[in-house]
Amino acid sequence: MTESIVRQGRMFHNVSDSIYWLPHDDEELDRLVGQHFALKALFEGNVAKEILPTLEKGAKILDVGCGPGTWIMDLATEFPECELYGVDFCDVFPSDIRPPNVQFLHANVLERLPFDDNSFDFVNMRFFMLALRQDEWVTALKEVYRVLKPGGFFQSLEAGMMDRGNDFCLWVGGIFMNVMRERGQEPYIAFKVNELMEKANIQHIKIDKRDTYLSKPDQLNREFLWDIVNIVRSAQPFLTGPLGISPEKFPQFLQRFEHECKQPPGAQWLIAVNVGQKQC
Ligand SMILES: C[S@@+](CC[C@H](N)C(=O)[O-])C[C@H]1O[C@@H](n2cnc3c(N)ncnc32)[C@H](O)[C@@H]1O
Repeated sequence: MTESIVRQGRMFHNVSDSIYWLPHDDEELDRLVGQHFALKALFEGNVAKEILPTLEKGAKILDVGCGPGTWIMDLATEFPECELYGVDFCDVFPSDIRPPNVQFLHANVLERLPFDDNSFDFVNMRFFMLALRQDEWVTALKEVYRVLKPGGFFQSLEAGMMDRGNDFCLWVGGIFMNVMRERGQEPYIAFKVNELMEKANIQHIKIDKRDTYLSKPDQLNREFLWDIVNIVRSAQPFLTGPLGISPEKFPQFLQRFEHECKQPPGAQWLIAVNVGQKQC
């Protein structure tokens, strides 16, 4: 069982050395499940189109930092002939019921993953922006390179910052970025993953950037508004001090944040998928 620590009523991992700052309780796992289906709709699928032919042939796939395993189990159902593995340093993935072609393992990508060199046709890593310090990215990507087969694909999905919206949203976004920088993290890592891949010898193939419009009333944009409000809710223990808001007043602040995202000019949140390939 992953060791936990409670902060302001939420349950966080207690992995020494890790900078990851979101909780791993049921509320956060629900957010990740909701976020998965919103991302799938935004990017019109779970996998970039360049990778699909590899999966159709039957492939060995790894999801690093799989969380509750929603992406990998969804993919396993789409591609029953593939062999899939999910790893996470918190044991939040299902232990009993899962598709028969999926296995979950406890592992830390900053240490050696429990797989041989050249094992996987496809490695996925999603939402590590709050999990790695800037200088840990190359270590993690070198481990991805090691376990990828020559010709194997890498897909990374990360988000931008709250840097478009009214003054209130820009204030919240600015504080969030300051906290990331104080923790040694790069807020705009989504747009630097290409350089990091090259440092790890993974050839960058493309970036696919898609915007979400948090003031729009359609279902998908409403889901991203719900997601970003809940990310801020999950990060509460790290934000109350910098925002100058007490834990008791935080629910009121979140209501205001949600309201302000919908006000002119309308907050926007950019999300990016980077695709790379290990050279043969
Ligand atoms: C924001 S969640 C994303 C989960 C999942 N990839 C998704 O998109 O739904 C980040 C996940 O990475 C895991 N994680 C953080 N640092 C890790 C590390 N060094 N090695 C393995 N997993 C890690 C966390 O426990 C968490 O489940």
